[in-house]
Amino acid sequence: IPISRIRNFSIIAHVDHGKSTLADRLLEITDTLRPEAGKQQVLDRLQVEKERGITVKAQTVSIFYNYKGEEYLLNLIDTPGHVDFANEVSRSLAACQGVILLIDANQGIQAQTVANFYLALFQELVIIPVLNKVDLKTAQPEAVIKQLGSLFDVDPETVLKISAKLGTGCDEVLKAIIERIPAPQSNPESPLKALIFDSWYNKYQGAVSLLSIKDGSLKKGDTVVTAHSGKQYIVKSVGILRPHEEEVETLSGGHVGYMMCNMRSTAEAKIGDTVYLKNAPVEPLPGFRPPRPIVFAGVYPMDQSEHIAMKKALEKLALNDPAVTVIPDTSAALGAGWRLGFLGLLHLEVFSQRLEQEYDATSIMTAPGVTYKVRIKGDKIVRLHGKELLEISNPAHWPEQQHIVEVQEPMVLGTLLLPEQYYNQVAKLCIERRGVEQESSMIDKTQMMCKFILPLNEIIVDFHDAIKSVSSGFASFDYEDHGYEVTDVTKVDILLNQKKIEELSMIVHVSKVKDEAKRLVDKLVEIVPRQQFHIAVQAVVGAKVLSRGDIKPYRKDVTAKLYGGDLTRKYKKLRQQAEGKKKLKMVGNIQLHRETFIEVLKR
Ligand code: GTP
Repeated sequence: IPISRIRNFSIIAHVDHGKSTLADRLLEITDTLRPEAGKQQVLDRLQVEKERGITVKAQTVSIFYNYKGEEYLLNLIDTPGHVDFANEVSRSLAACQGVILLIDANQGIQAQTVANFYLALFQELVIIPVLNKVDLKTAQPEAVIKQLGSLFDVDPETVLKISAKLGTGCDEVLKAIIERIPAPQSNPESPLKALIFDSWYNKYQGAVSLLSIKDGSLKKGDTVVTAHSGKQYIVKSVGILRPHEEEVETLSGGHVGYMMCNMRSTAEAKIGDTVYLKNAPVEPLPGFRPPRPIVFAGVYPMDQSEHIAMKKALEKLALNDPAVTVIPDTSAALGAGWRLGFLGLLHLEVFSQRLEQEYDATSIMTAPGVTYKVRIKGDKIVRLHGKELLEISNPAHWPEQQHIVEVQEPMVLGTLLLPEQYYNQVAKLCIERRGVEQESSMIDKTQMMCKFILPLNEIIVDFHDAIKSVSSGFASFDYEDHGYEVTDVTKVDILLNQKKIEELSMIVHVSKVKDEAKRLVDKLVEIVPRQQFHIAVQAVVGAKVLSRGDIKPYRKDVTAKLYGGDLTRKYKKLRQQAEGKKKLKMVGNIQLHRETFIEVLKR
């Protein structure tokens, strides 16, 4: 197929707007999934998905389609659907010349629709707006078309209306892909220049790279070099995804396909890297910003004897997901474990689900936190760490208050789309979360778009749920990085009988220190089981006690079972109990169960 009849495109959509349904429909219309083979292929796809792991992809697929008597090759390039993976969306888009912007005609434009639109616009891609679910009685295609016009200047004439579920209008989508999206540009005379825009791990083949061939061509037996590492590989196989791997002779300019070349891990198949032929080096493509973890959490095996099993499970998951960072960490209460870094909360959730599947014993995940930048003074510390600005994501590493000059925290720019009548509740919630409103405007008669700058720390735990609940589910939220800002936070420690419990230390904004201190203390008083002695619970900042509570002792009735009679035995028991009390008190050994930590850390 000549390059003029190749189209590379993605479907981008807000969660649940019907991306997978449309993709399946396109495969069906083009016989990519033949009905008789359909079942088997779907199973294959799931298998591949499972092996690919974390990013939860619908996966890339090459489609052949006969249009006006000519055969076209349409490469549907998958993009992960969630805000956490915006970075991955933009690199998938680097292999496309156009996108289908899919919008639920019932829900209208949502926060991710806005984010996706700008990602595509920024990369100068052709955008085909498509309204889905027009079969629903509640669909309001005309209202959504107006929104598209007022927000993005979209010409109403260019908007397609479909039902991916019923298949209505899906032929028009294929037609628009061919007619509106330009063919890729490539120079067949130039030597090979290919972009790695995705990779995954295959048990038998090692890392498999997904390439977008910019110039030249690639075939089995070629010796290639990856620009980043300068390492050489002999190509074992190239092919396209239909959606299973189908070997082809050559991948040439404009093509999207896989390359297997015995790379051991996905770390070698570095996304954004350029591949060229050994004897014909080229100027590398610009590449991508590596994904940067922004949310951190500790993970520990419930039972320390499971440490090795858990380590294996983590290694396996990390092979498939270079975006997660894994650093060994130990905690006095929870034992040996790891500190994990994620792209966002969803990433964390997906990962912990995978971990649960991969590793069948119970694990403990601590409350997520962010990375602070701390400027410190004092010779000793400066020399100790070799630099003035420390990056700290674990409260246990927080410097002493007197050494701190300044703390900066990560901020995000949040975009909210909501019906006007929920504005007050939503704005109130944002302000409670220390948000500062930037701009708000109506995008049509009923819908508003608001922008707030918010501290990342305030949105990583339950912000999505809170937004949904104050807006009866109608508001949507998306965010992007907004750098660091100076902030006023402090470390709150928890003392039980004057003994600091490191695992429960938290970094808290000064405006919330009182509330948070009280919450922690109340929670501990509620859940720490009574012991044979009194326990004083305190939340402190430095030497200052902000909140206190008491866990009353219970007097274990050790004599209950000794009916009358043997007084000596009774006295002996009572003596033992007194000794027990003393011993526990003496070592200050409060018996805390691991479950207690989990309860407190969970929030
Ligand atoms: P994620 O994979 O979660 O991002 O969702 P998605 O965007 O891939 O959406 P998916 O295709 O899973 O569809 C979401 C829901 O909408 C499913 O229950 C579909 O059956 C339904 N749906 C998709 N297209 C249509 C449509 O045209 N009409 C109706 N009525 N429902 C649809």
